[in-house]
Amino acid sequence: MSGFSVDWLALREPVDAVSRNLELTGELQAWRQLHDHLSVLDLGSGTGANLRYLAPLLGDDQHWWLVDHDPAVLGRGDALLRQWAATRESNPSLEWRLLDLNRDWERLDLPDIHLVTASALLDLVSAAWLERFARRCREWRAAVFVTLSYDGTILWEPALEGDKTLRERINRHQQTDKGFGSALGPDAPATLAILLRQLGYWVMLRPSPWRLGPEHATLQTVLREGWAQTARTLAPERAGWLDDWATERRRLLEQGHSRLHVGHWDLLAWLKE
Ligand SMILES: C[S@@+](CC[C@H](N)C(=O)[O-])C[C@H]1O[C@@H](n2cnc3c(N)ncnc32)[C@H](O)[C@@H]1O
Repeated sequence: MSGFSVDWLALREPVDAVSRNLELTGELQAWRQLHDHLSVLDLGSGTGANLRYLAPLLGDDQHWWLVDHDPAVLGRGDALLRQWAATRESNPSLEWRLLDLNRDWERLDLPDIHLVTASALLDLVSAAWLERFARRCREWRAAVFVTLSYDGTILWEPALEGDKTLRERINRHQQTDKGFGSALGPDAPATLAILLRQLGYWVMLRPSPWRLGPEHATLQTVLREGWAQTARTLAPERAGWLDDWATERRRLLEQGHSRLHVGHWDLLAWLKE
């Protein structure tokens, strides 16, 4: 699975924005003071949500490279960022790169990257790719800011009997190949923290959970449907409990009684010297 619809990205963008860890965002702003000009590489950029959140917080004189392998997402991103820039006085310069990060990561030929960032990407990647990623960031001597990586936690309120089994299925699916080899899923942030520390980075990991209430009924509904579908695909012959779970969860959602916590990590790393 590597297709992310522009509708899905639009639905999650405002929730991602309020879920980010403010302590780490503040640390990033403090780090930014060290650079006059800032060149930023955004991986799996989608329609540019990470830029729309971060660029206004990082001062003037920024250049962004946005990399994604999906031309549809890139096209929508270009249009959205033009609209967004038209409403603002000062904007970063930016360039898109259509590229597969697994196949072409080492071929991405960019000068003087100060900050490598990504949002909602890390759980897709494999251990082998993370090593390639960390090594390259170290060569650039770039800071690393990777946000909204799923941590394996899905907690519904009120709780239902099938919640635990569903979460286990989703977390098993998280470790299937998403285009980078077997994905690390929820283990990716801690793995990246270890790799970067071994390369001499100072690393901070902080939580950035989605806390969804009745006002996020659409996002909760999309998640409920997507996860039920995924769980059914993994074990179609034993799906009776899942039908009961999905029906009861829909009833709670329709009554405005459902709350959902989805855990994420944000990671910031930089070289001290
Ligand atoms: C969950 S979306 C996050 C998008 C965006 N960063 C955001 O926060 O809205 C993951 C993005 O990674 C991109 N992606 C997945 N696999 C990729 C690959 N192998 N190479 C480049 N981009 C990839 C997808 O096309 C998608 O836009």
